[in-house]
Amino acid sequence: MKRVLSGIQPSGSLHLGNYFGMMSRMINYQEKNDLFCFIVNYHALTTIKEKELLKENTLQAAIDFFSLGLDPEKSTFWIQSDVPQVCESTWLLSNVINVGLLDRATSYKDKLSKGISANVGLYSYPILMASDILLFGGEIVPVGKDQKQHMEMTRDIAERFNQTYGKVFIVPEPDIDKKTHLIPGLDGQKMSKSYNNTIPIFGPEKALRKRFMSIVTDSADIDEPKSVESPIFHLYSLFLSEKDQLELKERFIKPGLRYGDLKNELYECFWEYFKPYREKRDYLMNHKDYVIKCLEGGANKASSVANEYLSNARSAMGLNYKG
Ligand code: TRP
Repeated sequence: MKRVLSGIQPSGSLHLGNYFGMMSRMINYQEKNDLFCFIVNYHALTTIKEKELLKENTLQAAIDFFSLGLDPEKSTFWIQSDVPQVCESTWLLSNVINVGLLDRATSYKDKLSKGISANVGLYSYPILMASDILLFGGEIVPVGKDQKQHMEMTRDIAERFNQTYGKVFIVPEPDIDKKTHLIPGLDGQKMSKSYNNTIPIFGPEKALRKRFMSIVTDSADIDEPKSVESPIFHLYSLFLSEKDQLELKERFIKPGLRYGDLKNELYECFWEYFKPYREKRDYLMNHKDYVIKCLEGGANKASSVANEYLSNARSAMGLNYKG
């Protein structure tokens, strides 16, 4: 049984990018693997500055995960800050990575170019991520395409650590779903909370419908073909089998469709798809004590794994001066 591990940002209500990029795959993994999964609220500190918002988003993300099928009996699921050992190992790992590598991080550079202020936390984000993975012995890490570089850095850090101090960490393999296109947001860019272009999985029906209606399109008329590069096509495809995707492609290519109708159709498909999960979520929203108990159990399990790796790393580096 492989240890499959991944973390997710508590970016308010989770969105379709989170779901198809990582959550749904994680949830499928729990059947046949040793799944480790957590909400990265330490990482969120790099961008969220309001404490109430962070608290609310963290618990909400956990509730959403449980609602979508994550089973606390089968998996180890926790909140990142409940296992603070990752901060200590971030420091240890910082000493085997050069600043040049961090300078080249495209997601950091991208955030800067979007005007997001660059605190040191944002800069060293990839080291904390490496720590998240290495400290729990993650072997396979399902992530979206945008995390490819962070995964290379993690592997690099693990290899350098092992070369310098002897083998302590497992060098993890990224699992990037090639079939899933980079999931576009309303404006066609990558769906991301920081670009304000997300479609939340849960929320009031009217507001959600409105989000779908605001997906950008080109100006193709009813008697022109529709673009299979449009975000509508990519988003719709996420809900369809391969066969149905081909059918959709044919419909797009033939003239006769209106983008407005397609948006409605996509919305209906989305609404049906998440119906059963909505009910579970309503239940959990009224049983937060139960959710918190599950999270505490997860943190305990994760902690005992972390302690072992941390203690090995400390010894390997010479921090156990007492002998
Ligand atoms: N950086 C990831 C993202 O934004 C989140 C993350 C943090 C993560 N730590 C992780 C993903 C460890 C996988 C493993 O999507």
